Amino acid sequence: MQIVRTTRELRAALGARHDAAFVPTMGNLHEGHLSLMRRGKAAGQPLVASIFVNRLQFAPHEDFASYPRTFEVDCEKLRTVGCDLLFAPDERELYPVEQTFRVRTPHGLGDILEGEFRPGFFEGVATVVLKLFGCVQPAVAVFGKKDYQQLMVVRRMVEQFNLPISIVPGETMREADGLAMSSRNGYLDPGERAEAPALARALQALAQHAAGDGSPPALADAQHEAMATLRARGWKPDYLEVRRRIDLAPPRAADLANPGTLVALGAARLGTTRLIDNLEF
Ligand code: PAF
Repeated sequence: MQIVRTTRELRAALGARHDAAFVPTMGNLHEGHLSLMRRGKAAGQPLVASIFVNRLQFAPHEDFASYPRTFEVDCEKLRTVGCDLLFAPDERELYPVEQTFRVRTPHGLGDILEGEFRPGFFEGVATVVLKLFGCVQPAVAVFGKKDYQQLMVVRRMVEQFNLPISIVPGETMREADGLAMSSRNGYLDPGERAEAPALARALQALAQHAAGDGSPPALADAQHEAMATLRARGWKPDYLEVRRRIDLAPPRAADLANPGTLVALGAARLGTTRLIDNLEF
């Protein structure tokens, strides 16, 4: 695996090739990331990964400074999945001047769910992803369904800017007890780690309710109940909601009668760690 730190080195390594499969990450890689790498490897050649902790997508009170940076171990893991090229720029390389041009995400997508509780998050994500796409110029890019709304933001951005990149979704990887794999799981203490799968269970229960009683008022009750269940267990939930997969809008009665078109999404804080998860149904 070749490791490059600058866009110039990256372009030199890729030459005239524009057929790469690309998996952007912020490092601290786990099996979920590696499954995205395998997905990328199957979709295009060469496989290019990036590691860059993107300041623009963190609010001032969030964990940018403490976000785990595990570069050497990440490189070892990337070698095991046959990653060909790693782009690991520093901030001066990717943001040599203040990033005053930004991607403004649309109302009704960038400011709901995660965007409501993390204002500016998707603007930061979309901006760095657009920059990384410009550097790597891949044919294919893989984004995990674990960050469901992020995947949709990137898909819409690629469509609306006519970027010649096919966006491939990667399935969420789970621990044996159902907890979705995430770099932030490492923040959990042993008691919190034992409790953490309750978020996935709450989403399963919510999906079952929604599939069983297809009326918007019953769904609103089920969402409140799911939040109350987590609160009673010591969580601080931001949202647990059923949305349409197609546009993340709240489902109407006709949508609720249409299995296979919905997704339950949740975000909740356990101690100081904020976890997100989702379940398609
Ligand atoms: O999902 C992530 O790790 C990040 O949001 C991404 C896509 C690498 C952009 O910084």
